[in-house]
Amino acid sequence: MCHGVHLHIKNCGLFQHPLWGILFSHPRDFTPVCTTELGRAAKLVSEFSKRNVKMIALSIDSVQDHLSWSKDINAYNGEQPEEKLPFPIIADANRELAVKLGMLDPDERDKDGMPLTARVVFVFGPDKKLKLSILYPATTGRNFDEILRVVDSLQLTAYKKVATPVDWKPGDSVMVVPTLPDEEAKKLFPKGVFTKDLPSGKKYLRYTPQPE
Ligand code: BEZ
Repeated sequence: MCHGVHLHIKNCGLFQHPLWGILFSHPRDFTPVCTTELGRAAKLVSEFSKRNVKMIALSIDSVQDHLSWSKDINAYNGEQPEEKLPFPIIADANRELAVKLGMLDPDERDKDGMPLTARVVFVFGPDKKLKLSILYPATTGRNFDEILRVVDSLQLTAYKKVATPVDWKPGDSVMVVPTLPDEEAKKLFPKGVFTKDLPSGKKYLRYTPQPE
């Protein structure tokens, strides 16, 4: 029998794409910016699951708070105020994980002077290793379009010998990695490799259409 997965992939006899994971923390339940962020995250679950990314949130509040706040988040999204969100929220009420993972923001404290969690984004690959971390202070909400964009880049560059240039978006040309010799690049990228002339005469700006 095939059981559900967390960050593990079970072989169910069917081909499964490798599973990725995203862990994102927020400072506190029942706070304004966090409500907008988790609302947006809930709306983007299908985008993350299209990319085979499992989502999990974290804050230093209790399960009871998470359940009650979930109703507010759903109402903010214009939906039924249910206790359920489409991803779990870790209740790290004693800050155990937040300390271990370096998630605390020394500049934002609760009424007792205890530090709150910053807005951390960790993306894990199928090998369960950290592939990306982004850290925002409590006072700056994240851009979830950017998080999807970096997931697209991480997944593309994990499997192809390319890197994504500044402001890259899915569908744009990508760069051939500098370590790949020209002869191999020609074979690997049949759509062509295009270089830009530079004053140094070095041909290191090598573009190719985004590979499939
Ligand atoms: C907020 O989510 O609005 C927030 C939380 C902690 C500090 C500042 C803002």
